[in-house]
Amino acid sequence: LIVDAQANSGRQIPETLFGIFFEEINHAGAGGIWSELVNNRGFEAGGLNTPSNIDPWSVIGNESQLIVSTDRSSCFPRNQIALRMEVLCNIEGSNICPSDGVGIYNPGFWGMNIEQGQSYKVVFYIRSTGSVNLTVAFTSSDGLRSLATANVIADSSDVQKWTKKELLLESKGSDDNAILSLTTTQMGSIWIDQVSAMPLDTYKGHGFREGLLNMLADIKPRFMRFPGGCYVEGEWLRNAFRWRASIGPWETRPGHFGDVWGYWTDDGLGYFEFLQLAEDLGALPIWVVNNGISHTDQVASSSILPFVKDALDSIEFAIGDSKSKWGSVRAAMGHPEPFPLKYVAIGNEDCGKKNYKGNYMKFYSAFKNAYPDIKIISNCDGSSHPLDHPADLYDFHVYTSASKLFKMAHQFDNTPRTGPKIFVSEYAVNGKDAGTGSLLAAIAEAGFLIGLEKNSDIVEMASYAPLFVNSNDRRWNPDAIVFNSSHHYGTPSYWVQQFFKESNGATVVPSLIQGGSSNLLISSSIIWQSSEDDNYYLRIKVVNFGDSVVPLNITITGLSSNSIRSSGSKMTVLTSNNVMDENSFENPSKCSIIDF
Ligand code: AHR
Repeated sequence: LIVDAQANSGRQIPETLFGIFFEEINHAGAGGIWSELVNNRGFEAGGLNTPSNIDPWSVIGNESQLIVSTDRSSCFPRNQIALRMEVLCNIEGSNICPSDGVGIYNPGFWGMNIEQGQSYKVVFYIRSTGSVNLTVAFTSSDGLRSLATANVIADSSDVQKWTKKELLLESKGSDDNAILSLTTTQMGSIWIDQVSAMPLDTYKGHGFREGLLNMLADIKPRFMRFPGGCYVEGEWLRNAFRWRASIGPWETRPGHFGDVWGYWTDDGLGYFEFLQLAEDLGALPIWVVNNGISHTDQVASSSILPFVKDALDSIEFAIGDSKSKWGSVRAAMGHPEPFPLKYVAIGNEDCGKKNYKGNYMKFYSAFKNAYPDIKIISNCDGSSHPLDHPADLYDFHVYTSASKLFKMAHQFDNTPRTGPKIFVSEYAVNGKDAGTGSLLAAIAEAGFLIGLEKNSDIVEMASYAPLFVNSNDRRWNPDAIVFNSSHHYGTPSYWVQQFFKESNGATVVPSLIQGGSSNLLISSSIIWQSSEDDNYYLRIKVVNFGDSVVPLNITITGLSSNSIRSSGSKMTVLTSNNVMDENSFENPSKCSIIDF
């Protein structure tokens, strides 16, 4: 392997080459990075008709003790469903409630993770026919072990009046399969709405689950594409992600059923929070707008203007000054400074669809007219033939076998260097080579990424997909980070990202493998300046996709001309005993990075 580290022999890699793609899939957001513990907090998930299904809430007590139903009496016009408890407590006609009360409980997303010594903010809205004493508690899932409890008195002289209650519960025990219960021992009618429980400690205090965010911060993503994927499109347009319905005070948001991935989200993780998430990670946001096309229905280009206007408003929300109509809404949510939104993608995987080009052009013209500096991303692949429409970048998605992806390290070697840049916004090995996250998949992806690094004069961005999976709701395999209510681990594909985290903005220098098996070996080398000690470093990455050990002699020239003092070296290897090995909750480091 010959590495030419001479000054002037290299080329700067874009600052944005490696980032992340966050999609609300596999409960990545609701029940994932968003720390809300209550699932279906406003009782809206069963739909607007009443009586409705309140799943996953359940009733504590039997039918002679209380009747639980829903009505449309909420004080929030955008989410009108509220829960009504008619407490009868008719134990054999005695009108006495059981001593531990009757009421409702929520199991969260496959159990709430309640930790000893941690504080949790619980908020809910209540109205009642008279004074009510309510017990709010985190308990073990069987209700027998109390972790934290508080009493709330709702003193209502006016049955029409909703009151907001806020409590801080400190847990005296731990359980990662806990529930939140609201119970009473008093007869009467009680209405409850918008019940939220969040840990007080979240990433940068912005509501994100710390452990999962640390995993993201560790790979130093420079951009974050969001919120999908298919999630943006919807199976039907009526179920697509709507940014406008996802902003404002959390309790006023209607939530929606994401019909592609088949679950309800309260939209606590809304458009504002996505922008905040990108900012907290030091990543540029890439907002994927719905372009009037879902998996099933499409808006004709002649009727698309309301969608265009809606998308323009979303950009104003992100970057308008705090006196603008939508910028002022952002400011009221606590972020007077604009977010650095510089990229907008028009749709997801919609290129071949009937109305795509017509709709795209309407969005493109309106965006460029209002915001000339915003870079627009098309869904059409321009790598094989030139695009027939203007774009700054185009999406390229690939999910394939390990050997095919490894070979695709050369996919962009001959792509013309003029025209729009490439955004590999989704890539992964899938199918039997990958299982739920194999070493083999990761090795092939590493080879592919090396190819992207070498072609980073035309490839401007790349992100693995999907990023997260809640192990209780695997809608897509494999994924980079696996979690449940309390634990998480990176698949080998996640650990590959660690090898590229210094590449953004670094200099890629020529790195040539000579010899017989070079079609199974690939290498790239970068020089970068560490922000920790200001020194310059050379990183040589080599992937061996073959099944035998290859001895490698490395010759490096020109180190000193690049301010690199050759004072030592370190070798880091991602490895395991078998290429089909995977990490797991039991063995999270089976395939992991080892420093020699
Ligand atoms: O990453 C999972 C899905 O794959 C995305 O939602 C979609 O864009 C692609 O088909």
